[in-house]
Amino acid sequence: MPNNRLPSVHLVGVGAALPDPCLSNDDLSRMVATSDEWIWPRTGIRQRRILPPELSVVDLAAQAARAALDQAGILPQELDLLLLATSTAVDRFGSAPRVQAALGASRAVAFDLTAACTGFVFAVATAAQFLQTGLYRRALVVAADVLSRAVDWTDRATCVLFGDGAGAVVLEAGEVGADGILSIELRSDGKGSELLSLAMATEAKPLVGSLRVGQYRCCPIVMNGREVYKFAVQAVPEVIEKALLQAGIPAEAVQGYFIHQANQRILDAVAKRLQLQTQQVASVLERYGNTSGASIPIALAEWIGQGRFGPGDLGVMAGFGAGLTWGAIVFRWGR
Ligand code: ACO
Repeated sequence: MPNNRLPSVHLVGVGAALPDPCLSNDDLSRMVATSDEWIWPRTGIRQRRILPPELSVVDLAAQAARAALDQAGILPQELDLLLLATSTAVDRFGSAPRVQAALGASRAVAFDLTAACTGFVFAVATAAQFLQTGLYRRALVVAADVLSRAVDWTDRATCVLFGDGAGAVVLEAGEVGADGILSIELRSDGKGSELLSLAMATEAKPLVGSLRVGQYRCCPIVMNGREVYKFAVQAVPEVIEKALLQAGIPAEAVQGYFIHQANQRILDAVAKRLQLQTQQVASVLERYGNTSGASIPIALAEWIGQGRFGPGDLGVMAGFGAGLTWGAIVFRWGR
């Protein structure tokens, strides 16, 4: 339910960016021992997009951001805050300021936020706090990942799942007590961190005089697929139910469920548990694979572009992934 003492927070524009080059299941079957017959029934994925090496996650993020700003009718210079949710930053000191510079969002404070596939939900929740306190009026949240640069292309268990993409939303503060973001539920459980990681290994090297020092080395994505699956089908419906309860909204009243696009079987299991109709649950992973945090705004942008979701409609976004992290946000779309 809207808080009657704080400014409301509205989602007023969405955009997506997907690179053109496309890698199909058949293409993959020529690289590793796999097949469309194995991948499609287990995941719902037929193809994924791959960012060419000359482009970066910043290019992808800026493209999605421009589309979201256009839809919102807001200029980059009007932004107060820019959050980049990514696990594949070009600079681990932070890449959000590069997106800010690319957009010309000169007034915005920009920083990165990392929560794997839940990054978009965590970043929207974070941006909403700045708007609710009245500190800022307009924020841009971009989720962008180039997981094609983080997978081991010889590991058939993971390389078939992921694709590159970016998605963005514009948030705007509104009147006290108006509808907008209606509830937020976030969770983490570090006990499950080993189930899914994109880790930095430390190698001991005698570099500094007689001192042994550690040096970082990037490792590819490692995943225990079965355990991640079990976690997702239990945790995601629970957190959505909590968020709906907090918002005072029944599941059937929601026009669009934008759930992290990891696996069609997970989407189906969540829908079954919440007794949702198929047409309430967005699914775009057939064409894009798992685009990490970007998958929710990509799905939202497609539905809005197709007129399946629009101003005044109720939506739920739900993310889950490494950390472990998960969360859900209930919202009414538009100003
Ligand atoms: N092609 C052919 N065979 C494969 C492939 C492949 N691409 N990948 C694994 N296999 C084989 C395995 O080697 C194994 O063979 P074996 O029995 O001879 O040892 C067999 O298939 C079964 O492997 P499992 O890993 O047990 O397969 P499972 O039925 O669990 O399906 C899957 C794997 C699709 C990954 C499933 O576990 C899943 O959906 N998990 C959720 C993963 C997920 O969604 N991750 C991302 C969420 S978080 C985030 O987005 C970052």
